[in-house]
Amino acid sequence: MSGAVSIDGVLVPAGEARVSVFDRGFLYGDSVYEVIRTYDHAPFEMGPHLARLASSAERIALRLPWTADRFDREVRRVVEASLGGDAPDPGCAPWNLGERAVRLVVTRGAGELGLDPALAFEPTVVLISVPLHAPPLQAYREGVLAWPFGGPGAPRRGGDPAAKTGEHLFHVLAMREARAHAAHEALLVDGSGSVTEGASSNLFVVRGGVVETPPLGVGILAGVTRARVLDLARDLGVPVREWPQPLAGLDTADEVFLTSTAREVLPVVGVGERPIGSGAPGAVTWRIHRAFRERAGGGHGPGNGKVPARG
Ligand code: PDD
Repeated sequence: MSGAVSIDGVLVPAGEARVSVFDRGFLYGDSVYEVIRTYDHAPFEMGPHLARLASSAERIALRLPWTADRFDREVRRVVEASLGGDAPDPGCAPWNLGERAVRLVVTRGAGELGLDPALAFEPTVVLISVPLHAPPLQAYREGVLAWPFGGPGAPRRGGDPAAKTGEHLFHVLAMREARAHAAHEALLVDGSGSVTEGASSNLFVVRGGVVETPPLGVGILAGVTRARVLDLARDLGVPVREWPQPLAGLDTADEVFLTSTAREVLPVVGVGERPIGSGAPGAVTWRIHRAFRERAGGGHGPGNGKVPARG
């Protein structure tokens, strides 16, 4: 195990980091979490991530034991503790080299066995800082494949999609299916046949120069990157539309891309067996990714590195 871990505010060696078998995060997925990345070793978009953590906790009636300030300080501390010693990674996109991702988890804590949340009294706070695992440079240059999962008649995903919780079995099975087809990401399809989001990303579709993404109302996570990309597209003068995306309709898309903290803006060149557009990353995706890296970093560096060459 590499990286740095903090449990309830105490730094512990990663290989020795343990929580109780009675912890409800382990037993029931009774937890909330965030994944925060760094640029130039500085945590990025901490405000929106901590706001979403608070909102997720509220949605499952979990009392956060720390203030946002304390979470902020602990994220920075665990990042600091994890720096150095990176193995060389020739495939890594250059702007991600040496960066960290922090997984911040708050569980309802340990207690007697039983579903009743009142059985636990003290939430557990775990932060894990590891080298950022992001797509290789090649994925940005050539695009990736995404694989649909779910749909009419299939089992539905559980829980509240707007809360970032530990409940992930549907996503795990979706990824299993995607990997079985050598796809990078799974696309979650709802009972009406619409793609809502990726297993750990938000979906964007470009048609006739208009950038579309499913509205929050279809049941998705309000991605921090999604919000930033919508703002950037508007600033660039690219029309945006929050609109449902039937899986069958992706055939007519000019471009598809995914957004998430680690991926930033990642072109998708095939969904299932079908190619998207020309089968190569598209110009609008490219423009938005460049704008994201130039402007979204707020001085934290993504604008300083070179954007990936196309082709
Ligand atoms: N996943 N949708 C889902 C279901 C997600 O799990 C995520 C993030 C996103 C994108 O959100 P953001 O732009 O805020 O990262 C959308 C995190 C990174 C993860 O589970 O690793």
